[in-house]
Parts: sequence; C-alpha cells; structure tokens
Amino acid sequence: MTTPKVDVYLTREEADRSLRTDARLGLTSDPKWLPPKWFYDKRGSDLFEEITQLREYYPTRAERSILVAHAGDIARRTGAHTLVELGSGSSDKTRLLLDALQDEGTLREFVPLDVSESALRDAVTALHFDYPALAIHGVVGDFTEHLGRIPGRAPRLVVFLGGTIGNFFPDERAAFLSELRDTLAPGEWLLLGTDLVKDPNVLVPAYDDADGVTAEFNRNVLAVLNRELGGDFDIQNFEHVAVWDTRNEWIEMRLRSTSDAKVTLADLNLDIALEAGEEIRTEISAKFRRDGIERELDTAGFSLDSWWTDSEGLFALSLAQAR
Ligand code: AVJ
Repeated sequence: MTTPKVDVYLTREEADRSLRTDARLGLTSDPKWLPPKWFYDKRGSDLFEEITQLREYYPTRAERSILVAHAGDIARRTGAHTLVELGSGSSDKTRLLLDALQDEGTLREFVPLDVSESALRDAVTALHFDYPALAIHGVVGDFTEHLGRIPGRAPRLVVFLGGTIGNFFPDERAAFLSELRDTLAPGEWLLLGTDLVKDPNVLVPAYDDADGVTAEFNRNVLAVLNRELGGDFDIQNFEHVAVWDTRNEWIEMRLRSTSDAKVTLADLNLDIALEAGEEIRTEISAKFRRDGIERELDTAGFSLDSWWTDSEGLFALSLAQAR
C-alpha cells in the first residue's frame, strides 16, 4: 500500500496573482473578457457536474461511450506505464482507462493534474481507496504552465478529455500542443477528447439549457470575482448569452449587462463601467473536424494513431503518438 503523494506546483498565492492579472487585463479590454478557468471554484465545479447530466449537454455522455468501447484498444496500443490526466477534476471517466491499463498489466502510476487543490485531493483520496495497489502522484498545477514537470515512467499516456482543449484560442492551442510534445519522448502518447462541429440546433442548447444551469455556471464567475477581489457585481443584472460563431466554429459564452452599471473591484483598486447591453466574453468552446485535428497534431509533432467517435458522431477521441 503506497500513500499518494501530492506536489503543489501552483500555490494559492500564485493562483491569486494570476486571477488578479486576468481580471484587470480582461475587464479593462474592449470588448471585455474573463478566462474560463475562473469558473471552477467549489460552486462552479458542482454546477459543471450538473451540466454534464443535462439532457442538452451531450459531450460527457458521448465521450464516456467512446471510452467504454475503446479503453481496451487504448491500453493495448499504448502499453502505458504512467497515465497522466490534465485537468483531471473528479477523474471519473479516467477509471475506465485505469481499469483497462490494469487489465493490460502495464500500469504502474497515475498522475492527475488539476488547478484546484481541493478537487485534486478529493480525487486522489477516492482513487487511492478504489485502487490501493496503484501509485498515485497528484500535481496541483496549471496545464498551460507546468507541462514541463510531468512526473512518471515512460511510456506515458497523457489524456486531456472533455473537449477542454476547445477553451484555447487557435494560437494557444498550437502552443499548448507543441509544448506538450516537447515534454514527451518519441513514442509516448496523447489521448485527446474533442467535441465535433454539428448542427447549431444541437450545439447551442448544450450551452444554453432550458433549466438555466449553464447560465448559473456562467454567472458564477462574477461571484468568484466578488468574493476573491472584493467586487460588487450585481450578478442578477447579467444575462447568459451563448452564440455559435460559424466562421471560427466555436461556441462563445458571454455575460450581458442588462443596464448601465458601475462595478468596483476593491482589491484591485479598479472601477469599471458597463453600458446596457455590453457583453463580457467568458468562454470559447471550439468544435473540431477530423482533418483539422490531424493537421494540428501533426504540426505539433504528433502522429494520429487512432480516431474514434461515438455512434452518433458527436464527439471524438484521438490517440496520437509523439514522433
Ligand atoms: C469543461 C471546458 C469542456 O467547453 O463544453 C460547459 C465547459 N462550458 N458548459 C465545455 C462548459 C459551458 C466545458 N469544458
């Protein structure tokens, strides 16, 4: 029985500093924006869990069905000794991969990485209980900053699930993929989950559900700023907006001020003004096509090994190998 280890690469102070930088930069820009990573405090993480169970939000179910069908293939093809999960959250779907790699007999270690120390510690504790023989080495870190320090024995399989890569802009995505490639040795693996381009009548409701859970999730970022930065956003003054950007093939979430508003972020000594109808961009969630993914992986130095979708062709998993 090995006790799990948790390394903290990202301290509370560093996270706080980057929240301040992001809030100042984003809210003094025109148009205003906030990065999606600040959605995920305890309440935001709970709301996201609720989103994954909505009738309209298909990505989680679709990705799970692909893992159910192909975890064995992934284990066989990679023979991974270390499973690394970026943005692991509850590490729920990952259990399918852990089970398959254990059945394959190659798995030695699991390395979950997440920005949220509390979410990571909860996941590590639960996994240690269910996989007592597995070495678990958690990392509290930001996958845009700490990729170079991923522990574990080769061959590693790095998984980045949920379609979270869609939250990056194309240039950020390219930088992320080549940085990830550079941290791996030739022959090591990436399993990437991506949501696919489809009818906007399916896409938009997934980000604007009838029960308003996504609207609450979106507005929660303002509650985070109020709490962490001494803000006084009148949260109910903001409307949830989700639009499909046909040209860029991404969903954009925004918060629209319903009236002229003045907001103070006391801890930043910052006053901002919003006009009635003015929007703050809070997230892009890009949708993909096979050709584009294969090309982007190739540019970063990965060769696509396998491509799987769910039976309805909603979501894809790409298994790629570092060259
Ligand atoms: C967790 C980033 C994959 O983009 O679909 C869900 C977040 N935003 N509903 C996504 C999200 C609105 C989600 N990811």
